[in-house]
Amino acid sequence: MPSTEGDLARNRGLWTTVNAQFTDQHADRAWAAEELTWGLFGIPERHLGVLGAVAGLDVIELGCGTAYLSAQLAKLGAHPVGLDLTPAQLATAARCQERFGLAFPLVEATAEDVPFAAASFDLVVSEYGASVWCDPERWVAEAARLLRPGGRLVFLTNSVLATLCVPEAGGFTQEQLLRPQRSLRRLEWPGGGIEFHLGHGDWIRVLGANGFVVEALHELYAPAGAPTHAYYDIATAQWASRWPVEDLWAARLSSGKDGGA
Ligand SMILES: C[S@@+](CC[C@H](N)C(=O)[O-])C[C@H]1O[C@@H](n2cnc3c(N)ncnc32)[C@H](O)[C@@H]1O
Repeated sequence: MPSTEGDLARNRGLWTTVNAQFTDQHADRAWAAEELTWGLFGIPERHLGVLGAVAGLDVIELGCGTAYLSAQLAKLGAHPVGLDLTPAQLATAARCQERFGLAFPLVEATAEDVPFAAASFDLVVSEYGASVWCDPERWVAEAARLLRPGGRLVFLTNSVLATLCVPEAGGFTQEQLLRPQRSLRRLEWPGGGIEFHLGHGDWIRVLGANGFVVEALHELYAPAGAPTHAYYDIATAQWASRWPVEDLWAARLSSGKDGGA
């Protein structure tokens, strides 16, 4: 099922607020960063090697926000397109493009219904974008449609464990399991947005059903001495130094659906 207009409006409203409170002010620093990093604790891509060489690749970022990941990919020679649901986020991305002299297309749309032809891209990426805010059955199918045969999907989302340890009212992860894994899928936060989370087995099922072969699942921890994020109260650095706080998936599109090679 595609997200309802109500769900899309709620998430757009949330991200308009987050843009005003945090992401707009933070965007210049993120665009200026000297290297591509992943997640809350900024794990360098050079330590993970999840993307491989990106120069010359056609890339689409689903749920790009202020598009700092796309900006880093452009600096590495890729040809990114940033797609997002929220005009305020895209306005910040456009402002940063001007400031940093780095231009690439920015598209306002939902990642569950992407206005590009099939087989237009070599790489689909999402860092806390569609990977969190869209129904996996919809956006993973869109990623498969958008990719050329052999293309890759790389996405970052909250770890399964972190999702199970967040209190009902939101806030930092605790050291107890606070929700059943069986009930994971669509999560609605009080006063917040609508998110989607799956267990690892379900991610592998959805990826396989859309023709992807999983290449890697990197479970990300906070590095020693890392500070707790100043704005996102997802997990403290102390929690994240003991348990994986984020799941970074890499998958390759095989030629056939249902995992066929
Ligand atoms: C955490 S930001 C991700 C961008 C960036 N990597 C970051 O960490 O700031 C989440 C983004 O997902 C976008 N988003 C939410 N629902 C979406 C949808 N249905 N389609 C596309 N983008 C969506 C929001 O507008 C927001 O900009």
